[in-house]
Amino acid sequence: MISVKLTQQAFWQHNVEGYLIPLKKDLVELGSESVLKYIEEHYYPHLKELLKKHQFEGDRGQAFTLTAKKGDSLIQFLFVGVGGMHGAWHQELEILRRALATGLQTAKRNALKDVVIALPAGSLYQLSDDELVKQMTLVAHMATYEFTTFKSDSKKKAPWTSTVLICSAASTDAVEQGNIIGVAINQARHWADLPANHMTPAILAGEAERIAVKHGFKKTIFGRKEALELGMGGFCAVDAGSAQDGKFVVLEYKAKASDAPTIALCGKGVIFDTGGINLKPTSGISGMKFDMSGAAAVITVMDIIGQLKPAVNVVGLTPLVENMPSGTASRPDDVITCMNGKTVEIQNTDAEGRLILSDTLCYAEKFFNPTVMIDIATLTGAVQHGLGHFYTGVMTKDDELAQSLLAIGRKTGDRTWQLPMDDDFKGAIRSDVADIHNNGSSAYYAGTIVGATFLSNFVEKARWAHLDIAGTAHDVPAINYVGKGATGAGVRLLTEFVLNFQG
Ligand code: BES
Ligand code: ZN
Ligand code: MN
Repeated sequence: MISVKLTQQAFWQHNVEGYLIPLKKDLVELGSESVLKYIEEHYYPHLKELLKKHQFEGDRGQAFTLTAKKGDSLIQFLFVGVGGMHGAWHQELEILRRALATGLQTAKRNALKDVVIALPAGSLYQLSDDELVKQMTLVAHMATYEFTTFKSDSKKKAPWTSTVLICSAASTDAVEQGNIIGVAINQARHWADLPANHMTPAILAGEAERIAVKHGFKKTIFGRKEALELGMGGFCAVDAGSAQDGKFVVLEYKAKASDAPTIALCGKGVIFDTGGINLKPTSGISGMKFDMSGAAAVITVMDIIGQLKPAVNVVGLTPLVENMPSGTASRPDDVITCMNGKTVEIQNTDAEGRLILSDTLCYAEKFFNPTVMIDIATLTGAVQHGLGHFYTGVMTKDDELAQSLLAIGRKTGDRTWQLPMDDDFKGAIRSDVADIHNNGSSAYYAGTIVGATFLSNFVEKARWAHLDIAGTAHDVPAINYVGKGATGAGVRLLTEFVLNFQG
């Protein structure tokens, strides 16, 4: 655990164990602090020669640590490279995130109990100081997350705690926001990293309830009996195979103004996705504990909103179920009726996310009349083929919504890319026996877009966007601050979306 704090003191006035110093190519400093000169004068007279001798040139991804004696204590200079900085601002910003992550991971490895960071001005990245500090604060949390719940060794030693000081002219509010968002993202990751025998529908609903109580949100939580009464045929069809009762969770945050618009956030919460009767093969089943990442993101964003109190109403809705094969499970060929009366032929029990989300979208519109609805789901394996692990798929017919989600993705590093959506795809889910089917005809390919097209049947009048995080929610390679396991995909994106929403 770390806690990030802002400091107005000059870099060298801090008495800390670590000094994190980002450098550009050829050992050029990012700020104007003359940090290198100071080290040369006080500790290492031939610093630049020494760094170059050890191949550290300030290239991006590079890191080098030097230890020195300051009074009675040992201190460390953590140099990290950001390269030539010739890319677009958002690419350079991502490089800075990773450079800081590298430095802080070294600090963690070396158990440094406090670190000060020489952060450049936000203007270097076309951002305000506040924005840069907020982003780097939350990344500091992400970079030092680890999932150690089941590691016996980790219980024997005290967890690493550290104070991270950021030298900047930004407001303390910016760091505070960064701390809130960063801690929350790691909470979402922790929930998703927990395996399904430790993270059940009831447990996640319990976490949501705890958050509701903490912030005074109105909460509605019910199981399959009430879902059946409400006509939620999609939710019930997926829930039917599990020995555990599913939970449908609704959290309501109310803004001060009585005329504030409402945003509905809907998160897919499949605690484990076996595929159901269309059982997944071994190669496809591992990792399916992460199939509740959308729900984890939504509940987490509600937790953030409870602390940051934006001027917009926000409703978080999460259907929490376990997709299991059993004697009570739905079968292929079953026909169900969703909450809006539409009938669905279940051609594949493994396309379960869209079944539970259909009723969730209906429920959100029916009871909250939201201006905007965004759903977030590990919906399709296909999105991994189309966009890989670095971009969440955005699908919407609302161009303004798309542009906003793309821009926020670029700024936050929670990156998004738009896939098309139009009526031509509707043919892919045409059913011979019901209004639609849930599988998508192989003749159409585009499984990710077809999934979105299915969901569009359950949105009547709200502006709506669908986020497919199946590629970005877990096991993302190469990004050091998300590492192994759950990433918290969508939390930064949805948080900024809500905070910046203007009617
Ligand atoms: N949870 C999966 C999607 C998924 C796949 C997420 C891989 C993360 C990694 C989803 O429920 C699913 O099984 N989708 C099917 C849909 C198909 C049957 C139309 C898929 O992608 O194969
Ligand atoms: Zn699934
Ligand atoms: Mn599935």
